[in-house]
Amino acid sequence: MKNKICFIGGGNMASSLIGGLINNAYASELISATDPDKGKLDQLAQQFSINVTTDNQTAVQGADVIVLAVKPQVLAEVCNSIKEALQGKPALIISIAAGIRSTDIDRWLGNNNAIVRCMPNTPSLIQAGATGLYANPQTSATQKDAAEQILAAAGITLWVEDEALLDAVTAVSGSGPAYFFLFMEAMQRAGTQLGLDEKTAGLLAKQTALGAARMALEGEDDPATLRAKVTSKGGTTAAAIASFEANGFEQIIQQALSAARDRAIELADELGKQ
Ligand SMILES: NC(=O)c1ccc[n+]([C@@H]2O[C@H](COP(=O)([O-])OP(=O)(O)OC[C@H]3O[C@@H](n4cnc5c(N)ncnc54)[C@H](OP(=O)(O)O)[C@@H]3O)[C@@H](O)[C@H]2O)c1
Repeated sequence: MKNKICFIGGGNMASSLIGGLINNAYASELISATDPDKGKLDQLAQQFSINVTTDNQTAVQGADVIVLAVKPQVLAEVCNSIKEALQGKPALIISIAAGIRSTDIDRWLGNNNAIVRCMPNTPSLIQAGATGLYANPQTSATQKDAAEQILAAAGITLWVEDEALLDAVTAVSGSGPAYFFLFMEAMQRAGTQLGLDEKTAGLLAKQTALGAARMALEGEDDPATLRAKVTSKGGTTAAAIASFEANGFEQIIQQALSAARDRAIELADELGKQ
C-alpha cells in the first residue's frame, strides 16, 4: 500500500506503530509525524528516517491517512486545529485515543469523515498488542485494509461491527494487561508466603503466564481443554481450581469486566463533551 500516513502525536504508541511499519518494509518517506516536542521529533526522524514537523496543519495536507495518536484530553483541540486543512481533501482518520467515539471525532473535524476508531493495548508497545477496530459507515473497504495494515504492525487486529462493542474490547484487552499483572503479583506474593524468595516466585509466575499464553495461542486446544489436561483428579491443580471456584472466581472476573465496560461508557460520555 502506498498511502501517505501522518501521525499526529509522536509519543509511545506512534513510535511503536511507526517502528512496526518500518520493520514491515513500509517506505519511510511515506510516513510523517508531528509533536510539540522538537526533541521527540528529532529522535523519530533519526530512528526511522521519517518526515517530522511541529505544525499539524502542514503535516495533514496531502496525507491519505491521519493517525490521531494524542491523549484523549487533547483530541478535540487537535481535531479543531486540522479541520480547515482537511476541507475538500478527504483522508482516512484513524483514532487510537482511548474512549473517544467516532461521532465526536466526526463532529470536531466537520461531518462526513471516514473514521476508524481503534482500541489498542499496552503490549502494542512491544508489537504484541491486541487491537479492536471499528469503521464508521463512511469508511471504504480499501480504507479498512489500510487501517488494519497500520494497527497490525503492533499485534493482532479484530474488527467489531458495532462501535459500542469497543467498550467490551476495552474491558477485555484494553485493560486486560493489568489483570494479568495483578494475577502475577498475587502469585508472586503467595509463592513468597509459601517460602520461595521473591525473585524466584516472580520469575516462576511470569514465565508460567508466558508459557500458558503461548500454549493457548499456538496450540490446537482451547483454554478449557488445556486446563482439563493439566488437572488430574485429586491432584494439586484440582485442589487450587476447586479453591478458586469456591471463592467465586468466575463472578469476580465477570463483575470486574462489567465495571471496566461501564467506566468506558462513562468516560466516553465525559470526553465527548469537550
Ligand atoms: N500507550 C498505550 O499502551 C495505549 C494503549 C491504548 C490506547 N492508547 C492511546 O493512544 C494515545 C497515545 O498514547 P501514548 O501512550 O502514545 O501517549 P504519549 O506517549 O503521551 O503520546 C502523545 C503525544 O502527543 C503529543 N501531543 C500533545 N498535544 C499535541 C498536539 N496538539 N499535536 C500533536 N501532538 C501532540 C504529546 O506531547 P506532550 O507529551 O508534549 O504533551 C505526546 O508526545 C492515547 O490517546 C491513548 O489513550 C495508548
